[in-house]
Amino acid sequence: MNNKATINLNDKAYDIDIIHGSENEVALDISKLRSEASLITLDPGFKNTGSCKSAITFLDGEKGILRYRGYSIEELAEKADFLEVAFLLIFGELPNQEQLNKLSEDIKERSIIDEDLRIILNSFPKSAHPMGILSSLTSGLVAFDPSAVDIDNEEEMYDAILNLLAKIPVLVAWVYRRRRGLPLEYGDTSLGYVENLAKMMFQRPNKDYIQNKTIVNALNKLLILHADHEQNCSTSTVRIVGSSHAGLFASISAGISALWGRLHGGANQAVIEMLEAIHKDGGDTKKYILKAKDKSDSFRLMGFGHRVYKNFDPRAKIIKVAADEVLNDLGIDDPILDIAKGLEKVALEDKYFVDRKLYPNVDFYSGIIYKALDIPAEMFTVMFALGRLPGWVAHWREMRIRKEPIGRPRQVYIGQTHRSFSDIKLR
Ligand code: CMC
Repeated sequence: MNNKATINLNDKAYDIDIIHGSENEVALDISKLRSEASLITLDPGFKNTGSCKSAITFLDGEKGILRYRGYSIEELAEKADFLEVAFLLIFGELPNQEQLNKLSEDIKERSIIDEDLRIILNSFPKSAHPMGILSSLTSGLVAFDPSAVDIDNEEEMYDAILNLLAKIPVLVAWVYRRRRGLPLEYGDTSLGYVENLAKMMFQRPNKDYIQNKTIVNALNKLLILHADHEQNCSTSTVRIVGSSHAGLFASISAGISALWGRLHGGANQAVIEMLEAIHKDGGDTKKYILKAKDKSDSFRLMGFGHRVYKNFDPRAKIIKVAADEVLNDLGIDDPILDIAKGLEKVALEDKYFVDRKLYPNVDFYSGIIYKALDIPAEMFTVMFALGRLPGWVAHWREMRIRKEPIGRPRQVYIGQTHRSFSDIKLR
């Protein structure tokens, strides 16, 4: 295969290096194009732009493949524990038992949060969106430990990363409990990561908490499925904020804000609201398919379509099966699941969706599971954020260790050319 391509411009030829990825991906390295040919590339939304080389996650949107560090998402969702996956994503290999025990102990050691952070939490209106609170509290954590991390110091890096893995689940549980008016919990250090999360969230003040295997397994699976997705909007945000040498917590806080949007992680909340609205409106899925296709209507079928997957989203396949299992195991008959399946069926047979390769994405069925676990819709994206945390951390670490340059795209200026200032009386 060629290692060079050529661009011809104004009778001059410019050589462009071709970069090969380990899964046969091919890219043009245009980094010298501006200095050599005064030329930049234009790609709004970065639909066809690689922003970095990465060894964390491989995704083939045409074939519906998703792998973390080489391991298929299907196998990880079936066999792994979320903490193992977090270790894999961040440090590159699956942990052995000793490494996993150490990781778990080190997280427990760091899970205490300065009591003063509660003051900040309590000063938010109860109605504030949990994603805004989580992003603020994550930024707020910096104030309680302002020391900068020396990225050449493995121990300091490890400490910062583990602090985050330890404290964010506590904040997630606190945000949830405050919304429900429940006392804040620290959980129980004798429990595993996901069991402790369940206890911190669902523990009643006047009752012993009994672990429910179905709930723990469902949470574990959802967290794993959300754990990384290469250069998505929030991960790119974390990388670009971190590239200015903003700290890890500040970068993650920015990632949480990016995830909040309805076209990204916020879609899971939007999906359940859409399904509930359809249910209330009589369950006529065809009517909503027509609305989604109508270009004069701003309605989109939430949980459908993906920038990269053009065949199917492998995470959606796993979650659809899990939704059936969880509702069955918990003895819940939710008509919304039937509406979701009905919508999917109609859409997959409709030319509009087929032509545009629009399939259910990870967010289409996840909300149905969260709802079955008694998690309110405004918390869905917070759960997604907790799952995505190891991915964000892995990318931040990779970017800092490689000493990547500050992220700073170019633009094609289309505004006014030079003009003289006019006095206000003459305007
Ligand atoms: N409903 C109806 N039409 C759609 C939808 C949809 N959900 N998604 C895309 N289209 C149409 C769009 O109108 C356009 O049509 P046309 O070519 O006639 O102009 C075509 O499909 C291509 O869409 P696009 O917006 O150019 O595609 P994109 O790659 O920029 O956007 C997306 C991808 C995920 C933002 C989009 O599909 C969408 O808005 N989906 C709904 C929101 C959603 O479920 N987001 C979660 C994504 S997965 C989890 C995550 O990343 O967090």
